[in-house]
Amino acid sequence: MRKNGIIIAIDGPAGGGKSSVGKIVAEKIGYKFISSGKMYRAIAWLCVKKEVNIDDEEKVLEIARTNPISFKENSGVEPLLLISNTVLDKELYDENIAAATSKIARMLNLRNFLVEEQRRLGRDGGIIMEGRDITTNVFPDAELKIYLDASAQARAERRVAQLREKGMEANYREILDMIIKRDEQDAKRKHNPLKKSEDSHYIDSTNMKKEDVVNLILKLYEQTLSKIKK
Ligand code: DC
Repeated sequence: MRKNGIIIAIDGPAGGGKSSVGKIVAEKIGYKFISSGKMYRAIAWLCVKKEVNIDDEEKVLEIARTNPISFKENSGVEPLLLISNTVLDKELYDENIAAATSKIARMLNLRNFLVEEQRRLGRDGGIIMEGRDITTNVFPDAELKIYLDASAQARAERRVAQLREKGMEANYREILDMIIKRDEQDAKRKHNPLKKSEDSHYIDSTNMKKEDVVNLILKLYEQTLSKIKK
């Protein structure tokens, strides 16, 4: 066992509930929660702010190297993300930042740099980290690995409901098209594409309630702990 517990690594396509489910599980078991996508988004946000050409790999890497990302304890399970002393959260989810993020996430040097940071954050355990390459690349030795899937249609419906709940306009067809396009980009990427590792537990949440997904992961967590203790 690591110092603070095990590592729970969760991968899966965008909008599959990795964050919302992961945070609830983290809260219940007293673990920290890290969304690795936020780190890619933070670099993209700073590149856009500094008007750096996001097609220029060297420049993007320099931005990452000279503006370290840090995390600060927060009242919740998810530490605050800071880049150059600026706390970032909601602004990371603007559509233009998402598009820039998807571009820079293809860059191998940047990925390697962020993967090192992610490993440092998680090495003592007691953490749930989600992303696209956490089970396959960041923590191939994670004690519990999960691939959280859902059909593109179910993910689009959830996203529409989320936006409407916030009083925002949402067009199902447009959102579905965007989700399908992102899935393709993530899965066809040359470096560390999204894929299910053989030793991941596959959960298809298309027809499952959020509580049921949470309970299933809690069960897998208990099983993993008892195996380790044996
Ligand atoms: O999970 P998210 O939507 O916040 O991810 C934002 C982008 O970063 C998305 O294009 C996928 C990419 N990403 C990645 O390539 N590797 C990760 N470990 C996490 C996210």
